[in-house]
Amino acid sequence: MTDVTMNELLSQTTKRDPHTFFAHLRSTEPIFYVEEMHAWMVTTYEDALFVLKDPRFTKDYRKIAQPDETSQGMMESMRMLLQLDPPDHTRLRSLVSKAFTPRMIELLRPRIQEIASELLDAVEERGSMDLIIDFAYPLPITVISEMLGIPATDRHKFRTWTQAMINMQEEEATSQEAFFSYIQALLEEKRVHPGNDLTTRLVQVEENGEQLDEIELVSMIFLLIVAGHETTVNLLGNGTLALLQHPNQLQLLRHDPTLITAAVEELLRYTSPVSLSDERWANEDIELHGKQIRKGEMVVAALISANADPHQFSAGDTFDITRRENQHLAFGKGIHFCLGAPLARLEGQIAFATLLQRLPNLRLAGEAEQLTWTRNPMLRGLRSLPVTF
Ligand code: HEM
Repeated sequence: MTDVTMNELLSQTTKRDPHTFFAHLRSTEPIFYVEEMHAWMVTTYEDALFVLKDPRFTKDYRKIAQPDETSQGMMESMRMLLQLDPPDHTRLRSLVSKAFTPRMIELLRPRIQEIASELLDAVEERGSMDLIIDFAYPLPITVISEMLGIPATDRHKFRTWTQAMINMQEEEATSQEAFFSYIQALLEEKRVHPGNDLTTRLVQVEENGEQLDEIELVSMIFLLIVAGHETTVNLLGNGTLALLQHPNQLQLLRHDPTLITAAVEELLRYTSPVSLSDERWANEDIELHGKQIRKGEMVVAALISANADPHQFSAGDTFDITRRENQHLAFGKGIHFCLGAPLARLEGQIAFATLLQRLPNLRLAGEAEQLTWTRNPMLRGLRSLPVTF
């Protein structure tokens, strides 16, 4: 039986080259148990689809929790979309889904372009930057903050809080508390001074009826802020690195900018910014490849592995921006399919197109082997990406 440890999953070698690591696992043991995560992990495309879509895997921990567990702090203080099954999930998702349709998101194009251009204006003269700090982070956090009506002066706080949570640092709990208090104050502010933003609209829904309670409201804003930027930062960082490491693909894209849509899909597939799905729990005993998943046990899908499965993608470990069939799972699948996918796609397309157009001499400032990856099992992202141009 394969014995995969957290240390292996989080190691710099695995983060740098996940496809080699998972190729071996996919062919030897498609499902295995990671002791320190207390979770089963599936690695093939077919099994990932199964785990993401089959309702026997619940997202609602309360359904499988022991009676004495349900009133524990964290679970009670949060009720996020991503942690619920229908009908609660359907009710909450319908409150925000209209704001994230491709048509609504397309209206943001001029503003996203303006933000991308201004960020590059600010560094142009310098000839070098840390792509994460100067570009990949401020772009999505500015966009989601503007959608939510969060003042520009407050946005720097989120980075500190979410990094503490993502890197599983000691300050994780205090950061989360500070984050929640911030959101509660924001909601109070919107009650007194309504704005033309998504937070105000959700506050009004809460005030007017039965559709959303206070915990759900705070959880929703929290999820939108965190999911709205930490993931896209990784798409922009990992994607830039992948392009710089594959000069022929970079050249192709520079010569034919109409490839940008396909290129972003391939970057999502090949670099999988969210490498593991969120957790699910078996709501009954389920057998998979001869392994018994017991009721109440946790299961995650290795999206990064599914996205390179040769049974689904020819030459799955090859980066090819002209790939035609690309039904990747970078945004998940089923009812929890990423709400922000149209936004992330548009941000990616604008960001990469602007970078390549504005910085024709873009290069890595050091060796790719020296770059540090964050130690988070779910997300795959760089701490910093120094470049010159
Ligand atoms: C490259 C960027 C992004 C990637 C790779 C990504 C990936 C994902 C994945 C894999 C899931 C499903 C997780 C699961 O089922 O276990 C998800 C859900 C979600 N994402 Fe994204 N995401 C990105 C950007 C965004 C953005 C910009 C937003 C904006 C608000 C967002 C909001 C959400 C929300 C709210 C959910 C939960 C949906 C639900 O439970 O119905 N994401 N995302």
